[in-house]
Amino acid sequence: MKYQKPKGTADIMPDQSSKWQYVEETARKLFEKYCYQEVRTPIFEKFEVFSRTSGETSDIVTKEMYDFYDKGDRHITLRPEGTAGVVRAFVENKLYGPEIQKPVKTYYMGPMFRYERPQSGRLREFHQIGVEAFGVDNPALDVEVMAMAINLLKQFGLTSLKLAVNTLGDDESRQAYRQALVDYLTPFENELSDDSKERLKKNPLRILDSKDSNDQKIVEKAPSILDYLTPQAHARFETIKELLSVLDIDYVVDSNMVRGLDYYNHTIFEIMSADDAFGGKWTTICAGGRYNKLVKELGGPETPGIGFGLGVERLLLVIENQSLPIAKKLDVYVVGIGEQTSTESLKLVQTLRNQGFVAERDYLDRKPKGQFKTASKLAAQYTLTIGESELVEKTANLKNMQTGTEKKVTLADVYQDFALLINSITEE
Ligand code: HAM
Repeated sequence: MKYQKPKGTADIMPDQSSKWQYVEETARKLFEKYCYQEVRTPIFEKFEVFSRTSGETSDIVTKEMYDFYDKGDRHITLRPEGTAGVVRAFVENKLYGPEIQKPVKTYYMGPMFRYERPQSGRLREFHQIGVEAFGVDNPALDVEVMAMAINLLKQFGLTSLKLAVNTLGDDESRQAYRQALVDYLTPFENELSDDSKERLKKNPLRILDSKDSNDQKIVEKAPSILDYLTPQAHARFETIKELLSVLDIDYVVDSNMVRGLDYYNHTIFEIMSADDAFGGKWTTICAGGRYNKLVKELGGPETPGIGFGLGVERLLLVIENQSLPIAKKLDVYVVGIGEQTSTESLKLVQTLRNQGFVAERDYLDRKPKGQFKTASKLAAQYTLTIGESELVEKTANLKNMQTGTEKKVTLADVYQDFALLINSITEE
């Protein structure tokens, strides 16, 4: 019987995993500079954690949930996104407590699941690197979060980026806008897609996010949320734009942007790339925003929050063709000539690894030529060659693969301190 991976999933094989590790390590290092700490939450949660937060009329809840009843008849969902689970954990672990320093800055990375139609950059199991920061409503934090996302993408060498920002304002702004939108859309009701007819009653803002081309044409002339902001929400958005300029971050305001999840208010943003990987079309790699009601929604005290999620597969599509410094370095390749050297080679690689070096050897009793070829292919810095005569003499031949310099060394010195030996060969 032939087994194949489920549709919309991918195997990350050894030749690709170094890229993933590089992306993850770069993100960790950057997040730590901004004082974020990692949080790991379950890959599945109670269905309601997502249904109550993503929005009743969102595509995620209506079409894309991987949900099931477990053997104890609990309604479970594989997480479609990271935010709701992190908020649930924030509340459950009472990180809102006054004794805890605010903002509480967290990051995470891992798989998410959405039943979507698979295509390039869209999978059913995909991976996000995300951040969530709680307890501070200061616009400076909104801008810092956006700046951090841009910094991260720039570190990967991404250049053709567009930061689109918008605001959904506060409750009062949104209610006024909702009414304006209903007034505008009602005359078009019969022309709207079935989904949007439903949304018109339940959540008209969602229509702005419709993927139906006719809906999109209709909403082109829809009123803009920016004309319905309360003075406070307006001032907040002005501050955001000012602070982006202070940091020299280019942005465009996209007043039709609503995002696919319902929990946002005030700042929302998307970072897009128009790389060849997406046929030159603007594709969102990273997206996020502020969600000041979500902690309360999941049972905590009203606590502001903001964050973003970055699609790792989409990021990798863009950086795939760039030469990234991702090759894992190999310090030493031990070339063993003749079967008798195998035990010594085993001891050598073991010792070198214990001394902190990345070391590899031949396990197939191959000819020296083949072993040197492998050493070059693995970009080994040094080779340590041991044949039967060296075995008797208790020596080996150390070679710097970059300069070609060679030196006879004693095994005792290798076992004592290999770092000293390579220093001596470099100084000569
Ligand atoms: P989102 O816009 O639904 O936001 O997803 C964020 C990113 O995840 C997208 O921009 C995209 O790169 C990637 N992504 C989403 N769906 C797929 C898919 N099916 N296949 C591949 N990549 C995908 C969120 O998930 C929010 N939790 C972001 C956030 C964090 N907002 C505040 N904090």
